[in-house]
Amino acid sequence: MSKITIAIDGYSSCGKSTLAKELAAILSYTYIDSGAMYRAVALYALQNGIIKNGEVDKKKLIENLDRIDISFQYDNESLKSHTYLNGKNVESEIREMPVSRIVSKVSLIKEVRQKMVLIQHELGKKKGVVMDGRDIGTVVFPDAELKIFMWADAEVRAKRRFDELKAKGIQITMDEVRENLRKRDHEDTTRDENPLKQAPDAVPIDNTYMTQDEQFTIAFKHALRKISALEGKKA
Ligand code: DC
Repeated sequence: MSKITIAIDGYSSCGKSTLAKELAAILSYTYIDSGAMYRAVALYALQNGIIKNGEVDKKKLIENLDRIDISFQYDNESLKSHTYLNGKNVESEIREMPVSRIVSKVSLIKEVRQKMVLIQHELGKKKGVVMDGRDIGTVVFPDAELKIFMWADAEVRAKRRFDELKAKGIQITMDEVRENLRKRDHEDTTRDENPLKQAPDAVPIDNTYMTQDEQFTIAFKHALRKISALEGKKA
């Protein structure tokens, strides 16, 4: 069966990765979390004295880019793909608040984005991938057969994120989560380099009042349609 590329973009904590993983699983595609890559760079910056008083030392980070190796490995125990930074599994560390606080600032830097986009192109070149992020349908894979743009009401997203962090035992208040999302939305949509925006040909999904099953059904239908269109072209 023909393989397509699926690009899922949208605001923070609106369920992109849940949908992306479900689509990848049912289609036997590879799921790539591009946000995890920016998070890994942010973690490197935190661990190497590149963040001072909540600000990124841009020059130093750019000088260090060649020393940052990011990869993904499938973990047979959790049945999930884990993010590796210079050979070390950093999957849980990159989800913690210190990284969440700084990652949008790290992702503003042009040179960081250029490096991430290069890796993303390489990972997706064989098609059969579902990649989620902020600029996948607009910059990374502008020719993706299926593009989805997702969002949900800010308060609903904050509540979902809060519940997720609580479940992991992370001590945080709802106000902190709300503020973090507000800042990230602002930085992601207003930056000069590849800001978050809907590609003109993306399928919009507002999942504020949707269940996961409902959003999956919509997205899967679109994917099947794109795959059959490709099959039709081949025939
Ligand atoms: O999807 P996420 O919340 O894990 O992403 C973390 C941050 O990385 C997010 O605040 C914006 C940035 N990001 C980006 O700029 N471009 C992407 N393709 C993916 C994430």
